[in-house]
Amino acid sequence: KTPVIIDCDPGIDDIMALLFAFASETLNILLITTSAGNQTQDKTVSNALNFLDYMGQNVEVARGLDQPFYKDLQIADHVHGESGIGDVTFPISKRKESKRYAMEAMVETLTKATEPITIIATGPLTNVGALILAYPHLKPKIKQISLMGGAAKGGNVTPTAEFNIHVDPDAADIVFRSGIPITMSGLDVTHKAYLSQADVNELEHFQTNLSDKLVSMIRFYQDGGDRTPFHEENYNDVIRLHDLCAVAYVVDPSLFEGDDYFVSVERMGTYTNGATVVDYDKRSGQTPNVRVLYEVNREKLVSLFLRAVKHCS
Ligand code: BDR
Ligand code: CA
Repeated sequence: KTPVIIDCDPGIDDIMALLFAFASETLNILLITTSAGNQTQDKTVSNALNFLDYMGQNVEVARGLDQPFYKDLQIADHVHGESGIGDVTFPISKRKESKRYAMEAMVETLTKATEPITIIATGPLTNVGALILAYPHLKPKIKQISLMGGAAKGGNVTPTAEFNIHVDPDAADIVFRSGIPITMSGLDVTHKAYLSQADVNELEHFQTNLSDKLVSMIRFYQDGGDRTPFHEENYNDVIRLHDLCAVAYVVDPSLFEGDDYFVSVERMGTYTNGATVVDYDKRSGQTPNVRVLYEVNREKLVSLFLRAVKHCS
């Protein structure tokens, strides 16, 4: 099994990604750490704990940093709601969060690991960036970082920046310059990793407690509850499961296509703060540092996702 640490900010699509990871027979989840992003740290850590408890998963959940390196925290409550998971509630977890903070837990997990560990990151890269900055000698212990973030083209917060990178570009910069192999599931591929209305209807027909909760979250995510329609307006009636890609790539890379490029994170500029600049034409003279994904076998991904829900129900 592939040993992984998952750093996430649940987050509606983070919940779908966690579920997919729980259902996978090829991942060994050693630790879950939470980042502040879709909601504040207090909310993402309790969403993770409550969901894990609900799913009967006994993985340690460790609280991460509650602010980006330099910027003020920008949350996405207009997409994920006040709680971070739409209008769904999971019972309050009987288990408590770890006594260790995310950084300590990651350091200790990496230090004692007998084989390199994969980090899956589905939120802003604050925790992972801080880890690399403070403990560079642990880099060889990290096999790869599969992250949801960035975009070769366009953005979903500004014309050039995707949310996870835009929230903490300084941390992302540390990660992208670390020399650790990185796979970037940016908007180029995650916009193709969507559920259609027919897929959601299929999920609805499962009629289990879990599927009902997922459908409610999805509908919230789709129409933004009673606020300004978000996905409907911007994304033509499909539901993008961005974070699922970062997990699915580790489970089965053959679902995706991508190429290696030099990618840097822009930390300045009115319209470019948080942009991931992909050197398509090899103008920088820099060695490629990131596998940039651009294609996904959507049908297969969706059927694996639906199978995962069935498996966990
Ligand atoms: C990313 O931003 C968050 O809102 C999602 O959870 C995902 O990680 C998409 O840009
Ligand atoms: Ca996320």
